[in-house]
Order: sequence, then structure tokens, then C-alpha cells
Amino acid sequence: MKKMNTAFEKEFPALGSNFGGKKLVYLDSACTALKMRTAAAAHSEFLLESGFCGGRRSAHLPAVAVEEAFFEARRTVAGFIGAARAEEIIFTAGTTDAFNLFLSSFPFEGSRKEVIVSPLEHNAVFLPLLNMSKRGGIRLRVIPLRNWAPDLSAYRKLLSAKTALVCLNRASNIFGGVTDTAPFARLAREAGAKVFLDEAQYLPTHAENVRSAGADACAFSGHKLGAPFGTGALYVERSLMERLVHGKVGGGTVREVSRTPGGFCAEYLSGYQGFEPGVQNYAGAVALAAAINALSKTGMPAIRTRVEELVSYGLKKFSRAKAVRVVGDRTRLKLGSIIPLVPAAPGFSTVDFNLYLNHGVRGRVIALRTGRHCADLAALTSGTDDIIRLSFFVYNSRADIDAFAEALEEYASCLG
Ligand SMILES: Cc1ncc(COP(=O)(O)O)c(C=O)c1O
Repeated sequence: MKKMNTAFEKEFPALGSNFGGKKLVYLDSACTALKMRTAAAAHSEFLLESGFCGGRRSAHLPAVAVEEAFFEARRTVAGFIGAARAEEIIFTAGTTDAFNLFLSSFPFEGSRKEVIVSPLEHNAVFLPLLNMSKRGGIRLRVIPLRNWAPDLSAYRKLLSAKTALVCLNRASNIFGGVTDTAPFARLAREAGAKVFLDEAQYLPTHAENVRSAGADACAFSGHKLGAPFGTGALYVERSLMERLVHGKVGGGTVREVSRTPGGFCAEYLSGYQGFEPGVQNYAGAVALAAAINALSKTGMPAIRTRVEELVSYGLKKFSRAKAVRVVGDRTRLKLGSIIPLVPAAPGFSTVDFNLYLNHGVRGRVIALRTGRHCADLAALTSGTDDIIRLSFFVYNSRADIDAFAEALEEYASCLG
């Protein structure tokens, strides 16, 4: 573990950041991970040496080279998530972008107009669905929450011949833990519905195979695993991709635009090309692939072991705390990369505590997040509104948890 730590300190230079001479303790990787030197190097190298036209618009040799590098990145992403084909990967600007593209392209047919969502859905998934339901396009149904997870038996009752799509969060960004999506997906399939998985919080610290997880489609964000901001992907299984309508279009997505008696018509390209409009973030995709390769080199099982050990260590530590309470049970939380805490002492204010972590702790700035974490649906269904979230990635250590625990004790001692 020590060896990996040193290697990652070099790989994530922001670990050495200081703010006004105070050392950073970064516990907010669920928001965004610190960025990898390897990915940043691949990004800038590509921009400086290969910043040519791409996307098959131009037939010159530099454009062919861009396209080849872009496709190689597609292959890397496909391999990382266990997709059967590189062609099932559509590059996007992240999970939010991916889900908006997916939903606006999803073929709602006949009387299948219902979408079932997990109560843990992030606003990236929940709000586009809510908007569509308000416009009358679909009926939105929310799986009840049970023990901080979607209730499988209640879900069974929501499924019907009207269900078109089931959206499930693979790992919650507010309550931690993971969801075993396979049984949900099996039932969805029996009902003739498709399954979308939000992998944003799962992929950075788990080896994933989207096919055994039951996904017909899924999305993730590159910036949560050390790649640049504005990178990510949407996976869509081949036969579903063939049925998608083109919800986001523009240059590079059409085979032919022609005149019709009444005006014009467009024939779109089949496959991923029909869903990547405009000049793409080629450098971002290459950098994302570099980040994935670096994680794969360390090994996702090793990363999982490390993060699980950190979550266990923190849970043990906080089980004795008087000022806060852990939300959820240890067994479930250990499978994720988040420890959610709520205040338990009279007068505890998460706003004040956050100020204290940033301005009051001697020699350190402790960065984490409090509140609803853009998971309004989860907060509203659970009635738990104000979560202090510690989230971990490969570069965190027990010392980070100790620093937080010490700060917590100091803050609590001032409450009187
Ligand atoms: C579970 C989950 N889904 C989706 C998102 C949205 O990701 P992005 O902002 O990269 O699009 C997040 C971001 O925190 C998340 O935690």
C-alpha cells in the first residue's frame, strides 16, 4: 500500500496543494477526483501535436490520425466497462450530457411511456426525466427507499407492460454503498423494459462489467476518475443504439441531407457517429483513455481494496463519535467509497462546520461537501437533507480520516 501511495502522490500533483500555507486534505472525490499527471500529459501532448480536424469530415492524413486515436480511446473505454464493442461507446462531456442525450434519443414506443427511477438518482438523471414528465411525454415512477437503497419488492410492483425504461444508480453519491443492479435489470427485461445505469460514482473504484450489471445503456464522467473535465461516455448496447432516434444532431452525424417535395430531409449515420455532433473533444477522449490505462495498471481490485479499507477505518472511527451519526449500515457502506454523516449534537451546523474545516483547522484545509449533493430525490424521499460527505479515491489515506476526525472533535468541543 505504501508503494502505491508514493506512486499516486506523483500521479496526482494537486495532493501537494496548499491554501495560504495550509496543507490540503481532499475528501471530495465524489464531486471530482484530483487530476492525473498522465492524463494531463496525454491531453496537452494531443492538443499540441495532433490538434487537427477529425470526425471524418476531412480525408487528409492528419484527420485520419485523429480519428484513429479517437477510436483507440473508444476501444479503451469499451474494455474498461466490459462492453462487447468499441462501437457501443459514444463520447460525451460527462454523465449529465450522456443522460440528456440518451433520454432525448430514447425510442418511447406505443403505450410504453413509463420510466422507473431509483430513489437515489442524481439530478443528472432525475431532472431530465422530471422535465420530460412535466411536458407530458412520459410518466415517472420512483422506487421507494428501503434501508438507504431502492426496494426490490416495491420495484417489482411498479413494473408493467407500460414500463419503457428503468434508471438505476450503481453507487449513490449521497448515501454511499452500491446497488446490485442485476436483479432489477432481470425483472426489467422480463417486463420488456430497457435499463440505464448511472456509473458515475461506481466506475472510479470498482471493476465493472456493464453486461453482467444488466445495462442496456450506461454513462460515466471522466473527471471523477482523474481525466480532464468535460470528458465521459455513454454506452449503448448495439441493438438498442440501432433503435435510438437522433436527439442531438449537427455536423458529422448525417449521411445525406436532401430536398424533398415539402422541404429538406436528413438521413443520419448509423451507430455512434450519428450521436457525436460537432467537432469532438478528441484530446479529452485520449486523456480519458490515458487515465483509464493508468487506473488499470494499478488494478481496479487493488483500488477497491484500498478504498474499502479506508471506508472501514472511517466507519469504525465515527461509530464512537458523539457529534455525528453514520447514515446507513456498515456492510452496505463498505462496498462504496463514501461515508455519509449527519449532525447528532445540539447546535451542530454543517455550514459552520464547513467554515471551520476551511478556516479554523490549524495547518490544514479539509475539503469535503455538505448538503444534498445534487441528489434532491434521495434527500426528499429519505427526509435526510444535510449530509456531511467524506468521499475517497485511490490517493486518500488513513491520515486524511484522522485529520477530519480531529477537526470534528475540535469543532464539537466548541458547541458547549
Ligand atoms: C451519481 C452521479 N450521477 C451523475 C453525476 C453528474 O456527473 P457530471 O456532473 O460529471 O455530469 C454525478 C456527479 O456528481 C453523480 O454523483
